Amino acid sequence: MHEPNSVEVHTHLTSDEIQRSLEEDVRKGLLGPVKSLPPTWFYDDEGSRLFEEITELDEYYPTRAERALLKNHAREIAQASQATTLVELGPGSCAKSRILLDAMRHNNALERYIAMDVSEEMIVTSAHELTAEYSGLKVTAVVGDFRRHLQYIPPVDRQLIAFLGGTIGNFTPLQREKFLFDLNCSMDASDYLLIGADLAKDPKLMVSAYDDASGVTARFNKNLLNVLNSRLSADFDPDLFDHVAIWTPRDSRIEMRLRSRVDQSIHFATINLTVAFVAGEELLTEISTKFNPHQLESELRESGFVLDKVFGAYEGEFLLALAHPHC
Ligand code: AVJ
Repeated sequence: MHEPNSVEVHTHLTSDEIQRSLEEDVRKGLLGPVKSLPPTWFYDDEGSRLFEEITELDEYYPTRAERALLKNHAREIAQASQATTLVELGPGSCAKSRILLDAMRHNNALERYIAMDVSEEMIVTSAHELTAEYSGLKVTAVVGDFRRHLQYIPPVDRQLIAFLGGTIGNFTPLQREKFLFDLNCSMDASDYLLIGADLAKDPKLMVSAYDDASGVTARFNKNLLNVLNSRLSADFDPDLFDHVAIWTPRDSRIEMRLRSRVDQSIHFATINLTVAFVAGEELLTEISTKFNPHQLESELRESGFVLDKVFGAYEGEFLLALAHPHC
């Protein structure tokens, strides 16, 4: 039960389950001919900190663009949704949550905040901060992976589910279709979805956002190897890999990769796995899809959503879409 001003932490996802999920991703991703890992595992404590640093870089425009849209339209979003609960998927530091929470409070509707994130330390810290800042707010932190654990979000009325930052772009088209469908199925008729998505623009701008001059994104990318070293007792030397960020027009996405500088073989002691890299071979660590607004709008409709309002899309660099389930 909630005490006044207390935080409820749901770790439905025991650290054991998170570990199994990582092991499965590593086996699936590193044993095939083309190596890749989902970006989920970037976000240990150090990775979450590095990501916060990325959001403050001159080159990294998405955070500023989305924050400006939220500032301009949060009240309209709060009004239209009449939401009493804000649910956030992968909020990290919750920096943007406050804009929505303020608007919901202004609307006299704010009761509860629920956040789901794989980074336990980050989400629990943020949850405590929000509890202190918003008196009477019921705060629930669900430690989980939104690709797999949507069913662990407590079923409360009138939710506004926010999936911000452009994280939807981390999915492939197939994963995106499945995710939107699952999300739609988990929602009530009175719930709303707010999605933030980055838009395709001048490739130079997009590439420099993922390959900044001060090398923060390179450190963020390579930190994945430290995560694998510590969680799977692997023996990566991050200095033997180069950070690569490229625009692939065919898929309209930025890809981040780690390119092996040498022939090497990596041992994962925990799962008794050895993986060979030849010099120049790449590990795909993240895709960040840059959308065409029409495309995303039709995908939302195809997965059963009615679009209430789209902000920013045709005049700006980023898009916010407010939608609710059909019927
Ligand atoms: C947090 C997933 C939206 O894809 O732009 C930033 C992560 N990766 N720089 C993105 C990221 C490299 C970010 N998302």
